[in-house]
Amino acid sequence: MNLNIEMQKLKELAREAADVIEKYEHVRVISHNDADGLTSAGIICQALLRQDIRFHTSIVPRLDKSVVEMVKETTADDDLVIFCDMGSGQSDIISEIKQDIVVLDHHVPVGESPAKVLVNPHIVGIDGAMHISGSGVTFFVAMEMEPANVDLSGLAIAGAVGDKQIFSTLNGHILEEAVNAEVVSIKKGLKIGDGEIAKVLEYTPEPYLDITGDSEKIAEFLDFLGIEGNIEDLNPDQTKALTSAVALKLAKNASPEAVDAAIGDVYILNNEIVSNVYDLVAILNTCGKAEKYGMGLSICLKDKTHLEEARDMAISHQISIVENIKKGMDMVKEGKSIGYLIGTDMESTGMIASTFVRYVNPDMPFVAVNQVDELVKVSARGTRALVEKGLDLSFALREAANSVGGEGGGHNVASGASIPPGTAEQFIAKVDEIVAEQLPKQEQTE
Ligand code: C5P
Ligand code: C5P
Ligand code: ZN
Repeated sequence: MNLNIEMQKLKELAREAADVIEKYEHVRVISHNDADGLTSAGIICQALLRQDIRFHTSIVPRLDKSVVEMVKETTADDDLVIFCDMGSGQSDIISEIKQDIVVLDHHVPVGESPAKVLVNPHIVGIDGAMHISGSGVTFFVAMEMEPANVDLSGLAIAGAVGDKQIFSTLNGHILEEAVNAEVVSIKKGLKIGDGEIAKVLEYTPEPYLDITGDSEKIAEFLDFLGIEGNIEDLNPDQTKALTSAVALKLAKNASPEAVDAAIGDVYILNNEIVSNVYDLVAILNTCGKAEKYGMGLSICLKDKTHLEEARDMAISHQISIVENIKKGMDMVKEGKSIGYLIGTDMESTGMIASTFVRYVNPDMPFVAVNQVDELVKVSARGTRALVEKGLDLSFALREAANSVGGEGGGHNVASGASIPPGTAEQFIAKVDEIVAEQLPKQEQTE
């Protein structure tokens, strides 16, 4: 990979997108309901606002036919439609839209895109699963619109953290720009939210430790280390003691990405109203899940009105996720190549699947199936090591979902699907079969 050449190509695409966007007076923005999608929307909305381009933004959980219908009904003929953090995998669906389209995304492109410009790392040879998020791509476009938009780089960093990406290559470049512009600062430590350390360790699902959710064990752990108070007030020695103790806990069975996700460079967002990036990600993911899209977006636009309410919601949401992970421990089953669980009314299938593959058994990808009323939602998560061995969860979930009348997709390391009620067992068997073909046999020990 020659990063300079590939980045240059991505910048050229971003320039083309900026050229199209700048011709319009009004833009219809559609983005995804997670931290990456909300930060993408936050970046593009501020960039548009600064150029006096008016916009109407909608946040959606997935891009399906109903979204296209909504776009058709609510978009004037001479408006531009921008999709952020989605749109590459749904070329067939969005081709129904007659207005010009710009797609700013990092999912694997499927089919011939009807977009006037598709800005996507995969088409310049960079893996969008790990190296740049939807908000990173959107940030590239914002920078082509106006270099002063560098102040929005903190949102691009938050989007990549939300998508559990790595900070080399393109994300590394964005981080460097953010640090140089003093938009982001870096310190070493534990990658968790601010607040009273005992409480934060109790409700935070990542890193998932043997003390998570257990206030007594946490009190013992902190007593032993002689640490109390707020995480942001710990002195360097206390921070070192805490990170070493957490590293020791992770050494048992966690994957390398679990260690990366827990300890190391902590990004501080100097320009955002939530400076702790892990807090911002948790808040935005919570707003997305709770369908409080206006609240999430306004926080990205630095409006403090609903911040305290959002913070409280995020803590409650994380408490439920931890409870769901604990409940899930007793329900885990193993196929020949995947771990899985089929549950009902679970809080976050993505976090559950991610926790199992990162902290419980990194040798097998994990698939969490959640049946809620008439909807069956699936999340699958793998590790970088499994991807290097051939795992492609996006392909596996798309094929398996199609075989039972559902739809799925995403990234090699993290994908999702929706399937019809009553098809979960059949779907799981199909995923298991496909993943077994992707991963070499010696990985499955008896
Ligand atoms: O739709 P989008 O690409 O933005 O979402 C990717 C999802 O996959 C996020 O929820 C992110 O947290 C998750 N992910 C993961 N593990 C990875 C990479 C992504 O759980 N290694
Ligand atoms: O929903 P979840 O967080 O598990 O989604 C993981 C990834 O799979 C995301 O990138 C999401 O956009 C994608 N996905 C998809 N089609 C679906 C569900 C999820 O492409 N039906
Ligand atoms: Zn994303």
